[in-house]
Amino acid sequence: MFHSMMNLLFFTLFTTSVTIQVFSVDDPVFNDDILGLIVFKAGLQDPNHKLSSWNDDDYTPCNWEGVKCDSSNNRVNSLVLDGFSLSGHIDRGLLRLQYLQILSLSGNNFTGFINPDLPKLGSLEAVDFSDNNLQGSVPEEFFQQCGSLKNVNFAKNNLTGNVPDSLSSCSSLTNVNFSSNQMYGKLPSGVWFLRGLQSFDVSNNLLEGEIVLEGIQNLYGLRELSLRKNRFSGRIPEEIGGCIGLKSLDLSGNFLSGGIPQSMQRLNSCNSISLQENSFTGNIPDWIGEMKGLENLDLSSNRFSGWIPKSLGKLEMLQRLNFSRNQLTGNLPDSMINCTNLLAFDISHNNLDGYLPSWIFTKGNYHGLEVLDLSTNGFSGGIPSGIGGLRSLKLLNMSSNSFYGSVPVGIGELKSLYIVDLSDNKLNGSIPFEIEGAVFLNELRLQKNFLGGRIPDRIAKCSALTSLVLSHNKLTGSIPKGIANLTNLRHVDLSWNKLSGSLPKELTNLSNLLSFNVSYNHLKGELPVGGFFNTISSSSVTGNLLCGSVVNHSCPSVHPKPIVLNPNSSASNSSISSKYHRHKIILSISALIAIGAAGLIAVGVVAITFLNMRARSSMERSAAPFAFSGGDDYSNSPANDPNYGKLVMFSGDADFADGAHNLLNKDSEIGRGGFGVVYRTFLRDGHAVAIKKLTVSSLIKSQEEFEKEVKRFGKIRHDNLLALEGYYWTSSLQLLIYKFQSSGSLHNLLHGDKTKNVLSWRQRFKIILGMAKGLAHLHESNVIHYNLKSTNVLFDVSDEPKIGDFGLVKLLPMLDHCVLSSKIQSALGYMAPEFACRTVKITEKCDVYGFGILILEIVTGKKPVEYMEDDVVVLCDMVRGALEEGKVEECVDEKLLGNFAAEEAIPVVKLGLICASQVPSNRPDMSEVINILELIQCPSEGQEELLE
Ligand SMILES: *[C@@H]1O[C@H](CO)[C@@H](O)[C@H](O)[C@H]1NC(C)=O
Ligand SMILES: *[C@@H]1O[C@H](CO)[C@@H](O)[C@H](O)[C@H]1NC(C)=O
Ligand SMILES: *[C@@H]1O[C@H](CO)[C@@H](O)[C@H](O)[C@H]1NC(C)=O
Ligand SMILES: *[C@@H]1O[C@H](CO)[C@@H](O)[C@H](O)[C@H]1NC(C)=O
Ligand SMILES: *[C@@H]1O[C@H](CO)[C@@H](O)[C@H](O)[C@H]1NC(C)=O
Repeated sequence: MFHSMMNLLFFTLFTTSVTIQVFSVDDPVFNDDILGLIVFKAGLQDPNHKLSSWNDDDYTPCNWEGVKCDSSNNRVNSLVLDGFSLSGHIDRGLLRLQYLQILSLSGNNFTGFINPDLPKLGSLEAVDFSDNNLQGSVPEEFFQQCGSLKNVNFAKNNLTGNVPDSLSSCSSLTNVNFSSNQMYGKLPSGVWFLRGLQSFDVSNNLLEGEIVLEGIQNLYGLRELSLRKNRFSGRIPEEIGGCIGLKSLDLSGNFLSGGIPQSMQRLNSCNSISLQENSFTGNIPDWIGEMKGLENLDLSSNRFSGWIPKSLGKLEMLQRLNFSRNQLTGNLPDSMINCTNLLAFDISHNNLDGYLPSWIFTKGNYHGLEVLDLSTNGFSGGIPSGIGGLRSLKLLNMSSNSFYGSVPVGIGELKSLYIVDLSDNKLNGSIPFEIEGAVFLNELRLQKNFLGGRIPDRIAKCSALTSLVLSHNKLTGSIPKGIANLTNLRHVDLSWNKLSGSLPKELTNLSNLLSFNVSYNHLKGELPVGGFFNTISSSSVTGNLLCGSVVNHSCPSVHPKPIVLNPNSSASNSSISSKYHRHKIILSISALIAIGAAGLIAVGVVAITFLNMRARSSMERSAAPFAFSGGDDYSNSPANDPNYGKLVMFSGDADFADGAHNLLNKDSEIGRGGFGVVYRTFLRDGHAVAIKKLTVSSLIKSQEEFEKEVKRFGKIRHDNLLALEGYYWTSSLQLLIYKFQSSGSLHNLLHGDKTKNVLSWRQRFKIILGMAKGLAHLHESNVIHYNLKSTNVLFDVSDEPKIGDFGLVKLLPMLDHCVLSSKIQSALGYMAPEFACRTVKITEKCDVYGFGILILEIVTGKKPVEYMEDDVVVLCDMVRGALEEGKVEECVDEKLLGNFAAEEAIPVVKLGLICASQVPSNRPDMSEVINILELIQCPSEGQEELLE
């Protein structure tokens, strides 16, 4: 049967690789066509299964995809497989299709070489292999016996080599397309003797030499000639005028020179002439106006000079006129009013001048005009208001001329406008708000003019804007907030204007910004924080009065000095409005009593649980709910009684000796600060503890977070840090338990009872060094103190200072500047300036500032801010002034009666001032401070002290 025959055939074909002569079979459907196509298919990859209908079970291939047959003999005459995504080689199998007329394999991925034998298929008329990956050269043999070949398209492959000479002998050829390959060498001279030639396209290759057109004068049928983008040189031969049937001539992108040959005026059927990107010279000939059919005329990027010929007005069909980048002079001829079909008109980059003829903008005249580019010429005068009549305009470029007057209001009527560039002119007046009408506007470029007034708020309606360039004008007023609504904006340049006010915070919404330049204006206030503005370069904002970390300029809203608050102002938190606080304390004590009596929860819990504890501990010592050591969580609430709080001690015994009445009793209160009130009580073992009752409980984080932070603090141990021993938690009451420091605070030692012993210089130095070590350890543990001040530096019986109260800000939920500044305002004079500037990140350098102030306080014995009768003395200013006048020694605490080492005191004061620098990055790290202090320390002095 047929099948077995096919199988046999295949077997033979593929095993011996010998092409066998097929049996002569009478069955008309069993012919070379099926065999050829199946063999062809077998060599292909067909990822999209386009050839699945090609089945060797069929009796005829005529219904296969892409295959057509001649109805008279049922033989395949057309194979069109365009865009089938096939890859592989164009196989010899096709040579079996003896009746093939059309072979089109365009837009696939065929590789390999062009088979030279294809035209030997006597009927082949059209071959289209365009847009594949064929390589090698076009074989000479291909055109030697070309039968009836008419159309050859090898465009968009990877062919190299010469255009074969044999081409000239294939007299049936009508359309030849070798475009977009890498063919080189000269064109064969006989090409123009191919009488039937209708189109010839060798564009986009590497062909070279002078263009020889001998014979072309007889090619009446040649419609299309493209030599575009090659390396042809020399002049256009006069013979060109012979091809009077030419519709399209493209010689662009070569190295051609000379003028436009006279003979070209005979090409009056021509509708497209492209001579751009060559080196043509001379005038644009007047006769160009006789080529009445011209729709496209591109002479751009040459060296044409002289005037634009008047005759141009006769080209009524003209759609695209491009004379840009030449050396044309004069004005535009009035006759052009008759070129009413223009779609694109580009005469940019010439030397044209004069006023712009009003006809350009005559209403309705250029109803179809989409592109108008008059840029980089010497035009002057106003921009006619009739511009609004160019209803289809998409691109308007009038930049780099000398236009003056105002931006025409009519611009807002151009609903299709995409790009407007009026930059680098002499326009004045203001930007018309009517611009809002240009709803598709992508780019607005008005830079380098004399535009004044405000940026219209309504620009916010131009929601498609991606580029807004208004730099180098005289714009005033503030930047409209609405700009923040233009979320497509990528490039904004408002530099070199007179814009004032601050930058709207909303600008941070512009998530697509790539550049934002507002340099050299009169802007002030804070730079927005967030989004693009976190990485904006300082050059984009320089030349203003802006502040923020980018410009390395702390915000002017911040007092350049330490924050000084008026102690008499009742509005201020820092004034610790004593009445209010006292009132509150009384309240809480009375509440305590009341609640305690009622046996209820809340604050009273403490009292009650302590009472309970005392009662129980006597009978059930081991299970005493509060007796706990070891540092782990311990819920002391038997049976989860909600009345019980949770007490956790990090070490030692939590057995309180005194009852509740000692705790939280006003008599045992030993201090109060921004975070709470401190009481003293004793543990069972007799050692005293200080208990801080947090008064910020409404702000405290969740129990979980509170405990996490507190435990972190509990782990920090250092000789110069006050150890946190434990804590107590209920939702309404939080206590922190510290070791009690019997000798009081640094504040008391310096400013307290004058009759007491005065700290010696050596003691002061030791305190400074000790504090530095404590603080350095804290920073190494990644804890920022936030609240350094002399009342937080405590002493036990030894002289070692212990810094307490560290990190408490961390217990509050929103660690923002607002909380920081309001909670720490009591630390008057110690607070680093960055606390008041939202744009600066708070780092451990804020502690270094406080430390610097402490140094000055210790050396001078004066408070950081002292209130005189009607004056406020800021310590660090006072010392800095003294240093500048060379009188530092006079600042040292007079209580020392001159008993101090000046060679230590002066550098220590300087160190204090450096630590108290306004700019955080200018302050040293605490580890550096320790090194400096150790260098300053006089060894001899130290020794003496030891020996004493
Ligand atoms: C073309 O074929 C090559 C090699 O066979 C393959 O790597 C490539 O992905 C193909 N390209 C397309 C567009 O099919
Ligand atoms: C074209 O051919 C050249 C040389 O034959 C080869 O290097 C290049 O990769 C080919 N390009 C493509 C797109 O196949
Ligand atoms: C030649 O082929 C290319 C690519 O397919 C095509 O763009 C061009 O129009 C063709 N040239 C002619 C004269 O048809
Ligand atoms: C425009 O064409 C009309 C009619 O063809 C003609 O009368 C008129 O003079 C032309 N205008 C100019 C300015 O050449
Ligand atoms: C910007 O957008 C907001 C929200 O969509 C709108 O309320 C506001 O009016 C807009 N501003 C301007 C100036 O268009």
